[in-house]
Amino acid sequence: SQTAMRFMPTELSLDKLRLAAGSCQACPLHGPATQTVFGQGNPDAKLMIIGEQPGDREDIVGEPFVGPAGQVLDAALLKVGIDRKEVYLTNVVKHFKFIESEPTGGPQRGKRRLHKKPDSREIFACRPWLEAEIAAVRPDTIVCLGATPSQAIFGRDFRLTSQRGKLLTTEWCQRTLATWHPAAILRMPDETRRERMRDELTEDLRTAVQVQA
Ligand code: URA
Ligand code: SF4
Repeated sequence: SQTAMRFMPTELSLDKLRLAAGSCQACPLHGPATQTVFGQGNPDAKLMIIGEQPGDREDIVGEPFVGPAGQVLDAALLKVGIDRKEVYLTNVVKHFKFIESEPTGGPQRGKRRLHKKPDSREIFACRPWLEAEIAAVRPDTIVCLGATPSQAIFGRDFRLTSQRGKLLTTEWCQRTLATWHPAAILRMPDETRRERMRDELTEDLRTAVQVQA
């Protein structure tokens, strides 16, 4: 099947990769989306944070984690004392996948674009971009937000509920850790549970940046 390899530039710098990913058509997601949302941040980052895919806001702005989930992430980073500009932020899939919902307030209200999970073919197709980003940045630590990036990095058997918050070694990185996805925190209806997940996200980020003695 088709992957983004076909769109890989010869020079694998982040700038060249970003440019090339801008015209990637390796899977159907590029069609309805506004633009490619490539990773962003410090090219020499010690910490790389990987999300699932851009959301509605990211699709419009063209940058990762600028919507509501990004605000949850920013708040957790702030608590740990990590400057967002120090890190490199990216996603497993670089185009927004959505379904258009029928408007509730009549046709003049406009359709809402509801996030839809990327399937395994799309994740597979987009994977070369993520691999190239990791190779270019060479972070000391990778944090995976939620099940999609966790399974992309740790393998399909990875279970977030049992492995969350543990620093593990993978073929990708010496220090790799999975934690809650900020959007999953926002979707949690129970407030007590939601606040606990926020605290756990913060705790896990702290673990990720802790310098080992
Ligand atoms: N959710 C993600 O997984 N990534 C983003 O960039 C924004 C929301
Ligand atoms: Fe290419 Fe990834 Fe976009 Fe699919 S989602 S078109 S593989 S950049």
